[in-house]
Amino acid sequence: MEDFKDIVTKNNGTVSVQHLKGYRQIGQGGDGTIYQLTSERCVKIFYEEETQQRELEALQVGQLSSVIPRLYEYGSNYIVMEYVNGTSLKKIAKKERQLSESIVRKILFMLEEMKRVGFARHDTEVRHILFNEQGEIKVIDHKRALTSARTVPTKLVAGLKKMGVLKEFLEHVNKLCPSLYEEWKHI
Ligand SMILES: Nc1ncnc2c1ncn2[C@@H]1O[C@H](COP(=O)(O)OP(=O)(O)O)[C@@H](O)[C@H]1O
Ligand SMILES: [Mg+2]
Repeated sequence: MEDFKDIVTKNNGTVSVQHLKGYRQIGQGGDGTIYQLTSERCVKIFYEEETQQRELEALQVGQLSSVIPRLYEYGSNYIVMEYVNGTSLKKIAKKERQLSESIVRKILFMLEEMKRVGFARHDTEVRHILFNEQGEIKVIDHKRALTSARTVPTKLVAGLKKMGVLKEFLEHVNKLCPSLYEEWKHI
């Protein structure tokens, strides 16, 4: 398997998915394809360079917080970042049909951190919240983080509702932070 560094050097800083055939594809979305490079790193190859710019800026701002994947390197159409080896909140909710207080605490911490680093969007989808092997929370896919202003977690709440765990989520929130509960109970 060709070394990622060599692939980048040979192609003057742009990487296409053809070059990464030997690597394991770990995800694909509307904006790119993600390949695992090592046990700690993955690369997201973007369809549009403009999207790469938006996500890169958000990741750079987000480096202040442990809930954002580490940023390692980038080129015009790709970003090498921390590979989060773990499970998404979506999968956990689907499998367990419930949410522990500890998970809800971590979600509130994550939203607090998104605010603290300066994201305009304090929201994310249930599939973009990951828990690694140490149980640490990480949030991925940040192209809208700086550009769409949202101070209430509409997408998150909609996702939890769909998974059938919204009521339990809000009960934990009410215990942990009643003022947030008052803000969110009618989203
Ligand atoms: N840093 C990461 N660690 C582990 N898996 C990831 C990482 N980034 C992306 N993925 C996987 O790839 C999928 C698509 O990534 P995402 O960033 O959401 O792409 P898009 O912007 O195209 O929606 C995610 O849902 C996740 O399963
Ligand atoms: Mg996505």
